[in-house]
Amino acid sequence: MARRTKLTWLAVVPALALVAAMSACGSDEAGSGGNGDGQNIELVHEGQLTTCTGLPYKPFQYEENGKVVGFDVDLVDLVAEKLNVKQVIVDTPFDSIQSGADLNSGKCDLAAAGMTITEVREKNLDFSEPYFDATQALVAKKGSGIEDLSDLQGKKLGVQNGTTGYDYAQKNAKGAELVNFEDLGLLLNAVETSRVDAGINDNGVLYDWVKEKTDFEVVTEFDTGEQYGIGVRTGNKALLDLINETLDEAKKSGEYDKIYEKWFGKKPEEGSGNSN
Ligand code: ARG
Repeated sequence: MARRTKLTWLAVVPALALVAAMSACGSDEAGSGGNGDGQNIELVHEGQLTTCTGLPYKPFQYEENGKVVGFDVDLVDLVAEKLNVKQVIVDTPFDSIQSGADLNSGKCDLAAAGMTITEVREKNLDFSEPYFDATQALVAKKGSGIEDLSDLQGKKLGVQNGTTGYDYAQKNAKGAELVNFEDLGLLLNAVETSRVDAGINDNGVLYDWVKEKTDFEVVTEFDTGEQYGIGVRTGNKALLDLINETLDEAKKSGEYDKIYEKWFGKKPEEGSGNSN
């Protein structure tokens, strides 16, 4: 009840309400994590670490038996453990993750979505240290004769909305018709059903997909030299520090390698950004 009153206030006098909300957090445990390293970390929902992601993005995050699992999920679980809370995952369009909109509106504490660190995004959100190396790649049906972007003149190339692959295709796939999909699942479905002639996305997810879809292959990679980072709202230093500390520890302890092997079936390559 008290809460409802406060919410009405929020709408009327935002500045005052902010002060009220902040002092409310200070006077009890609401809005913060449990104990341990994350003592002064404010969470958008009490007692849980809320992660925004764009499903499906296998093997980084996807649903299996009604549960969201994956490489990113396991890494963020380590952060949640430090806060003594559970991770709760919110599925939201990738475009509003990468723009910073979801973090700014308080939809989630962090974004873990196989998201590439870019200069543009750095302006709209803060990134952790890189935790994974990636590059763009092209997937097509075996025997299609498509080996590179130049083979897509007058053909359809599937892209995922708001992604670095979308940007890359716009700049480099001259003469191809870009078909934009909201998520990777829809994009790959269009590749599989030949509604598009090829698809562009990150190498990790495409190699994972062709393991099962053996009529398809990753025909080439583009050396885009990308690195994934976990995103937080600009200025949320307390949470960012905890994420970086967690990643660092996981790399040193071998936990990172264990998680990597679980999802990629092998150890990270020596000297890559995916090794310690
Ligand atoms: N790494 C690419 C980017 O940052 C694609 C990420 C898409 N992630 C997702 N969960 N749908 O633009």
